[in-house]
Amino acid sequence: MKFLQQVRRFAIERRINQSYTKRLASKGSQPEGVFWNSEANQINRFITLIALIETTRRFNAIGDEAKNPISIAEIGCGYGALYRYLQDKKMFDQWSYHGVDINPAMIAACWRNFPNEISQFKVADRPQYLVDFSLFSGTYNLTPLEDCDQWLRYIIQGLHKCWHLSRQGMVINFLCAPETKINKKIYYANRKHFIATATKQFGPTIAVPTKDVSGDFSFLISRS
Ligand SMILES: C[S@@+](CC[C@H](N)C(=O)[O-])C[C@H]1O[C@@H](n2cnc3c(N)ncnc32)[C@H](O)[C@@H]1O
Repeated sequence: MKFLQQVRRFAIERRINQSYTKRLASKGSQPEGVFWNSEANQINRFITLIALIETTRRFNAIGDEAKNPISIAEIGCGYGALYRYLQDKKMFDQWSYHGVDINPAMIAACWRNFPNEISQFKVADRPQYLVDFSLFSGTYNLTPLEDCDQWLRYIIQGLHKCWHLSRQGMVINFLCAPETKINKKIYYANRKHFIATATKQFGPTIAVPTKDVSGDFSFLISRS
C-alpha cells in the first residue's frame, strides 16, 4: 500500500477508534457498547453469517474434510460477543476461532471477558494465520467519512488484507438501501453494487437477508 494511502487509513482508523472507545467506556461489554440496538439484532447477524459459512462448507468439503473444524477469524470482534455465542452454543468442537480488532480498548475488553483465552484476541486488522473464512459483523457500519466512494475504497482495501488469508471465502454484513448512502455516520450499501464490486475484486458474491434484522443483508464472497 502506498505511503499516502497508509497515512489516510491511519487517520480514518484513529477516528473510528475514538468513537468506539468512547461508546465502550459508557456502555461496557454489551451490544450497545458496540452500537448494536439490541442483543437479538447482534445475535441474528451471527446466526446468518454462520449459516452462510456452514452451507458453503457443506457444499465444498470433500470426504473427511467435512469433519474438520471450520476455522474463522472475526475481523472487528468488539468485546468478544461472537466468541461468547460460540461458547454458549458449545460449538467449539466444530469451530476454531480467533478475533482481531483495530481498537486496543476492545481487545482489552476481550481479555477481561475471557481471561483464560487471551491468545484468541489480538489488535490487528487481518487474520493472524490462514483460516477457512474471515467474518465481519458490523465492522464497516460506522464511518467517520461523508463520501460513500471513499468509504467503499477503504472497505475494499480492508477486505484485500484478509482475502489472501481466507482459504474458502469471507462473510460480511451491511445495512442496505436502494442508493448507497451515509446517514448519521452509518454506511448503507447498495446490495447490487456491493455484489458487483466484490465479485470483480474477489470472487462470486451472493447476498441473503439477515435473519429478522430489517434492512440488513449478509454477503458471502467465495473463492470458487
Ligand atoms: C459494530 S462493532 C461489532 C463488533 C462485533 N463484531 C459484534 O458484532 O459484537 C464493529 C467493530 O469493528 C471494529 N473495527 C472497525 N473497523 C475495523 C477494521 N478496519 N479492522 C478491524 N476491526 C475494525 C471496531 O473497533 C468495532 O469493535
